[in-house]
Amino acid sequence: MPQSPDSGFDRVASFYDPLARLVYGSKLQEAQRWLLKFIPDGATILIIGGGSGWLLQQVLQHTSPSHVLYLEASEKMLLKAKQLNPNQIIVEFRHGTDTGLQPHVSFDVIITPFLLDLFPDARLNQLMGRIYTSLSTGGIWLFADFWPVEQKPPFWQKLLAKSMYLFFGLLSGVQATQLPDYRKRFNRLGLQEIASESFYNGFVQSKVFRKV
Ligand SMILES: C[S@@+](CC[C@H](N)C(=O)[O-])C[C@H]1O[C@@H](n2cnc3c(N)ncnc32)[C@H](O)[C@@H]1O
Repeated sequence: MPQSPDSGFDRVASFYDPLARLVYGSKLQEAQRWLLKFIPDGATILIIGGGSGWLLQQVLQHTSPSHVLYLEASEKMLLKAKQLNPNQIIVEFRHGTDTGLQPHVSFDVIITPFLLDLFPDARLNQLMGRIYTSLSTGGIWLFADFWPVEQKPPFWQKLLAKSMYLFFGLLSGVQATQLPDYRKRFNRLGLQEIASESFYNGFVQSKVFRKV
């Protein structure tokens, strides 16, 4: 069973998507859609923390994977994803977290869509380590998330980040309080960045990493 705070999104599942659209317009979706062109035909894919299933729908419509594991900590989000994507024989919907990933099962592509920003340092290191282990050599990690602007973030970005952490901290038990230094962690894992795009004035970034 997933443990708190990973399952706290049950509480916001009914309004998460409209809220994200209200605050960011279509930018969060654009950032995820941009990643799809990097998925090779026949790939095995792990989508972890995909939420209500919009991204899965896009993956199934625009790419040709051989198998998708849709791993979601929130039962309510998972149910929404199943309802949005019925009768998909190549998709395994699994309620759980990275803690249940088997080290001997690896994927050609792993997608972390607005997931890594949720965790404080130690838990993030653990999560990224498990994802790295589950990625095949030569496989690609598709990342979309809020990105800490390195120098002097504008006031609106600081305010938005603070408000998000306050809101999801209270409602969903998110324990992180600031955006992590992802670059340091990806470098430490030895992942090679092969493509990158920024959205929402750089506050949102999509990146493609290869495991060499
Ligand atoms: C911020 S939401 C993003 C949802 C979706 N990717 C989107 O952009 O609309 C994060 C999602 O990750 C899920 N989640 C959190 N921790 C997780 C974990 N360790 N393993 C799998 N899913 C997780 C939550 O339940 C939630 O649905």
